[in-house]
Amino acid sequence: MKENRIYNFNAGPATLPLSVLEEIKESFLNYNGSGMSITEISHRSVLFDTIINDAIARIKRLLHLDEKFHVLFLQGGASLQFCMIPMNFLHEGNSADYVNTGTWSTKAIKEARIQDKQIKVVASSEDRDFSYIPKNIRFSADAVYAHITSNNTIKGTQWASFPDTNGVPLIADMSSDMMSRPVEMDKFGLIYAGAQKNLGPAGVCLVIIRDDMLKMVPDTLPTMLKYTTFTSKNSMFNTPPCFAVYTVQLVMKWLEETIGGLEKMEQINRKKGQILYDTIDSSGFYTGTADKDSRSLMNVTFRLPSEELEKLFIHEALGNGFGGLKGHRSVGGCRASIYNATTIEAVEVFADFMKTFERKNG
Ligand SMILES: Cc1ncc(COP(=O)(O)O)c(C=O)c1O
Repeated sequence: MKENRIYNFNAGPATLPLSVLEEIKESFLNYNGSGMSITEISHRSVLFDTIINDAIARIKRLLHLDEKFHVLFLQGGASLQFCMIPMNFLHEGNSADYVNTGTWSTKAIKEARIQDKQIKVVASSEDRDFSYIPKNIRFSADAVYAHITSNNTIKGTQWASFPDTNGVPLIADMSSDMMSRPVEMDKFGLIYAGAQKNLGPAGVCLVIIRDDMLKMVPDTLPTMLKYTTFTSKNSMFNTPPCFAVYTVQLVMKWLEETIGGLEKMEQINRKKGQILYDTIDSSGFYTGTADKDSRSLMNVTFRLPSEELEKLFIHEALGNGFGGLKGHRSVGGCRASIYNATTIEAVEVFADFMKTFERKNG
């Protein structure tokens, strides 16, 4: 690996494309001949306007968004969206549907309930420890929106396709699989994603919102908590997280110009997932924790025969240059996060390591 970098399988913040990091390093002290770092320029400058507008244009092209959609960069992470969504769209007499597929959906549900909003949990996979994505869900015809978590970072499950809600706008937390595959945007009223997995560094949350959703936003909300504040000011009502937006711009450029778009990205992600799941399934040693038809192509979660072996595995993996493999603290086990910037080569050498470890300890 270049510059003593490890193979980074962290769940987020996570690995970024090396070419993006190199470009940042290259231009860090003097951005585009300005004599200033990107962290020093004004967000009211032409320089920054060009950055944010290019990032938005690239996101629109990558997702084939038409003029109905607004692309926003907000702060407060995906967690603030858990609260802003019911606050902006759910009013007296209205109700929304939620599907509970793990920790992050549970948190989204909690934030709606804290505000005394009326919501209905129409499906949940809690009965089997969130190891699958529920099927054949009956969404309410009169719901204002239906909320799902498209990829469950902790449990390693992912919606392979998006549910039919009979015209009710879908809202999805795509924090851990945004831009990993094409999305049929006509189903969605809003999607959001904390940047720190597939899009850039921590500090910015990408929100894509359909125009008609804005009609539901009440004027009475505090300024910083309503979507219309940001749609009317191109995400610059106040100082945006300039460095994070700049990095997102570079990652989007990499997706478009180096990878060649989301169809190509999906093919690469499928290949990486296949390498790891084949390694798990062909061993009598590793066990995948998610149902096969619900497996995530972003977070591969697995167990070893004992907790002692898991500790040894994580320890030896690090000694061999593979980092970030510990499962989330709430579930234990192992997790290899293989976001967009993880290369096929990194996954191949890690799969070889897994096989060697099994031969020695199985
Ligand atoms: C699916 C999902 N949603 C939400 C969050 C919370 O994001 P943030 O830390 O940006 O609030 C995470 C964090 O890992 C996540 O994986």
